[in-house]
Amino acid sequence: MEQRIVNVKALGEAANALVAGDKGLLAMDESTPTCNKRFAAAGIPQTEEARRRYRELIVTTPGLGKCINGAILYDETIRQRTRDGIPFVKILADAGIIPGIKVDLGAKDMAGHPGEKITEGLDGLRLRLQDYFKIGARFAKWRAVIALGQGIPSGACIEANAQALARYAALCQECGIVPVVEPEVLMDGEHSLRHCQETTERVLHGVFEQLYVQGVILEGMILKPNMVLPGLQCAKQESAEEIAEATLTCLLRTVPAAVPGIAFLSGGQSGELASARLNAMNATSNAFQLRRPWALAFSFARAIQQPALEIWRGQEANAVAAQKALYHRANCNRSARRGEYGAAMEAA
Ligand code: 13P
Repeated sequence: MEQRIVNVKALGEAANALVAGDKGLLAMDESTPTCNKRFAAAGIPQTEEARRRYRELIVTTPGLGKCINGAILYDETIRQRTRDGIPFVKILADAGIIPGIKVDLGAKDMAGHPGEKITEGLDGLRLRLQDYFKIGARFAKWRAVIALGQGIPSGACIEANAQALARYAALCQECGIVPVVEPEVLMDGEHSLRHCQETTERVLHGVFEQLYVQGVILEGMILKPNMVLPGLQCAKQESAEEIAEATLTCLLRTVPAAVPGIAFLSGGQSGELASARLNAMNATSNAFQLRRPWALAFSFARAIQQPALEIWRGQEANAVAAQKALYHRANCNRSARRGEYGAAMEAA
């Protein structure tokens, strides 16, 4: 089995390219069950051809490359082609968008820890990564899921998920693939903003400890965390500015300056809220801004795709309007990276 020496400089350049300028990442890596669930909710047939048509709509959106540096694909999608037979990977690369791939095999119930999950997929990962590299992937994603509730997350859940993330990241770097390291503290629950901040701090400390233990090159990775948010069912919902302050306080305490970029997940926030909060983090009026060493970008799935999916509803006649909606959300987030997003953009 081939085992390569890590090219630190090339990895660093590739990681920087993912968060360069004012662009971000588009997550379009829903697993088949997740994609089918979203299709069912929108009244779209849950077939491979419907999924292919939807992903074709996304990758052929005019101007997408102006807002997106990289797109995260799923195993089914990275092998698919347009109706004209052009591989999606080529369409993306021609648009200046770096193809990426989700490589975890999902979060499973953790033994002995009710309500907690451990992400699987390390077995055979080296060979899968080598295969994805040949197909064209230059970065990868692995998502760990941390639920917040009574007595959870446990130390065991944080440690096991952090170790898996670090082992995944080390394997990616060996294969010349930039790892996107995604520990997601979920929004569900009644917890306060402070509780989410404390938990996210605990999780990120655990993750960066394991990344260090496993020898992951921080310059050659991207962190994909949750924003620090009050629970969805919490009565108090703070402003975008308060959320930006809590998020940046947490990240400044936990994420080493060697990491080139942070690309937030959206986690079920609406497109508008995700853009407004990202904007608040990048606004020049934000004092924390001046102290942060990393790019603050986005790696959204739902907060970019959801309006487009609801417009498309599986109908060819809606494809152009759906692409416009997708581009709009991507462009709003591009403005948010510059701290120039505002309600006026939505009205227009
Ligand atoms: P959301 O932006 O919809 O949370 O998805 C991001 C993602 O990639 C989840 O793994």
